[in-house]
Amino acid sequence: MPKLSIAVFASGGGTNLQSLINSSNKGVFDGDIAAVISNNSGAFALERAKKAGIAAYHISGKKYPGRNQFVGEILKTLENNKANLIVLAGYMKLLPLEVVRIFRNRILNIHPALLPKYGGKGMYGMNVHKAVIESGDKISGATVHFVDEIFDHGVILIQRTVPVLPGDDPETLAARVLKVEHKILPEAVSMFA
Ligand code: GAR
Repeated sequence: MPKLSIAVFASGGGTNLQSLINSSNKGVFDGDIAAVISNNSGAFALERAKKAGIAAYHISGKKYPGRNQFVGEILKTLENNKANLIVLAGYMKLLPLEVVRIFRNRILNIHPALLPKYGGKGMYGMNVHKAVIESGDKISGATVHFVDEIFDHGVILIQRTVPVLPGDDPETLAARVLKVEHKILPEAVSMFA
C-alpha cells in the first residue's frame, strides 16, 4: 500500500480535522492530509487547512449545479491530490454514490453517538445529542465506521463511550463526546494505515 494520502471532508468548525492535523504532525499515523473539501465556503475547517498548508476546496451543489459537474469536481480533486483514504470529519452531506463506490472500504466517518443507535437521516450534529438526552440513555459516545451506501451503516472500527450526566444539555454532552472523537478518529486512521 502506498503512503496514506488523506482527503478530509468537513462542513463546519473542523475540530476533528484539527485533531487529525495535530496527530499527523506528531506521527500518530503514517500519512499526509493532502486535501480538505467542504460544501460550505464559510467553514472554519477550510481556514484550519490553509493555516496548516493543506490544499482547501469549496465544492458544493450550489457552486456546481449540474450533478455530473459536482461529482466530477469531487473526483477530480481526489485524483489530483492522489487521495487513497477519505475521512468524513463533520461532513453534513451524503457523499455521492459514485464516490462511495470508487472508494469502497477507503472511507471513514465519525459519528457523535453509539451507532447503530442515533444514526440515519436527520441524525447529525446537535440533533443526535438532543435525541440521546430525550431518550434518557445513561451512556453515549462516538463511533468511527466505514462508509457504505446506507447512512451511518458501514462496518464499525472503533466506538468509545461517555456518561450522560444528570443536568446535561445537548451542548455539554456534545463537548464530552467531542473530546472522545478527537482521540478515536486519529486512532482509526492509524488502524487503517
Ligand atoms: C462532530 O461531532 C461530528 O461527529 C459530527 O459533527 C461534529 C463536527 O464537529 N458529525 C456528524 O454529525 C455527521 N453525521 P467538528 O466540525 O468540530 O469536527
